[in-house]
Amino acid sequence: MATRKLFLVLFLQLIMFVVLNPVYGQERLKLGFYEKSCPEAEAIVKKVMVETLSKAPTLAAPLIRMHFHDCFVRGCDGSVLLSSSTNQAEKDFASNLNLRGFQIIDRVKSALEKACPGVVSCADILALVARDATATIKGPSWEVETGRKDGRVSSEIEAHENLVPPTANITQLIRSFQERGLSIKDLVVLSGAHTVGTSHCYSFNYRLYNFTGKGDTDPNLDPNYIKRLKNKCKPGDNTTLVEMNPGSFKMGRIGVLTGKAGEIRKQCSKVNK
Ligand code: HEM
Ligand SMILES: *[C@@H]1O[C@H](CO)[C@@H](O)[C@H](O)[C@H]1NC(C)=O
Ligand SMILES: *[C@@H]1O[C@H](CO)[C@@H](O)[C@H](O)[C@H]1NC(C)=O
Ligand SMILES: *[C@@H]1O[C@H](CO)[C@@H](O)[C@H](O)[C@H]1NC(C)=O
Repeated sequence: MATRKLFLVLFLQLIMFVVLNPVYGQERLKLGFYEKSCPEAEAIVKKVMVETLSKAPTLAAPLIRMHFHDCFVRGCDGSVLLSSSTNQAEKDFASNLNLRGFQIIDRVKSALEKACPGVVSCADILALVARDATATIKGPSWEVETGRKDGRVSSEIEAHENLVPPTANITQLIRSFQERGLSIKDLVVLSGAHTVGTSHCYSFNYRLYNFTGKGDTDPNLDPNYIKRLKNKCKPGDNTTLVEMNPGSFKMGRIGVLTGKAGEIRKQCSKVNK
């Protein structure tokens, strides 16, 4: 009897493992997945990113964002990159229309195809590009596990269902992250990505002009910041871009003398005669 019970428990555990374990039936990601199959893979991605961003540094931010938008819809499977003949792919969803840098992903992919045809997935490219974009603009860096395969499906409706809208409140943001195994801390840390890049006025204008639908302003916003944003973004503005992290003020700008004010001392310990 006891043995039968034990078997039943073990059997149930096996079922639970198969049903619930998201990695069952797939190989795990690992560091250096391409070590043997394409030893230069990560160096090639890095090289293309450094070259590209030295000419077009503003592409770093949208490339970081692209990895996030890929991962939150069907997992990190490169589905955000797929185009559809009927314009109903993820990239056709409103929040993805302002993604930029697809041509950079193509450039990285061609370089990798030249070195190792058919080996490195587009999903892994997005993960490596996000890391290298961040590091190249002197942000933090991290190790990226690889071994993702590319998916074969991309749906505008799924993008709509899975990308949290700019209007989401904190409860909705936490839920969206927790549904994907990410913690509140992950939410805070990853939101730090918004220290780079730009936003369109239309993404946040409701907080300036129509927060609760009564033509009001979000009371939680800093009053000086509101003034600044209202100056840049008029109601119904569909085009203007605003920096995410406006004019970070450096200590080195305090009370400086410039132009005709001040002089260039000949000797630093004496004012000029
Ligand atoms: C937590 C939920 C998030 C929401 C609601 C959100 C929302 C937004 C919105 C509304 C914009 C401006 C888009 C525009 O108007 O052009 C934006 C930009 C951006 N987001 Fe997020 N985001 C979230 C999380 C993330 C995460 C996790 C990352 C990356 C780790 C990220 C990276 C970026 C970057 C880098 C930009 C600037 C893009 C550019 O300069 O083109 N975001 N995000
Ligand atoms: C967040 O939004 C949801 C859905 O609109 C709403 O039910 C909930 O009360 C909101 N929570 C907070 C804290 O505002
Ligand atoms: C403000 O929001 C309300 C409710 O969502 C909407 O009916 C109204 O058209 C909005 N006004 C403007 C100027 O967008
Ligand atoms: C912004 O876009 C909306 C929807 O496409 C349109 O109705 C509105 O007239 C546009 N506003 C301006 C100022 O162009």
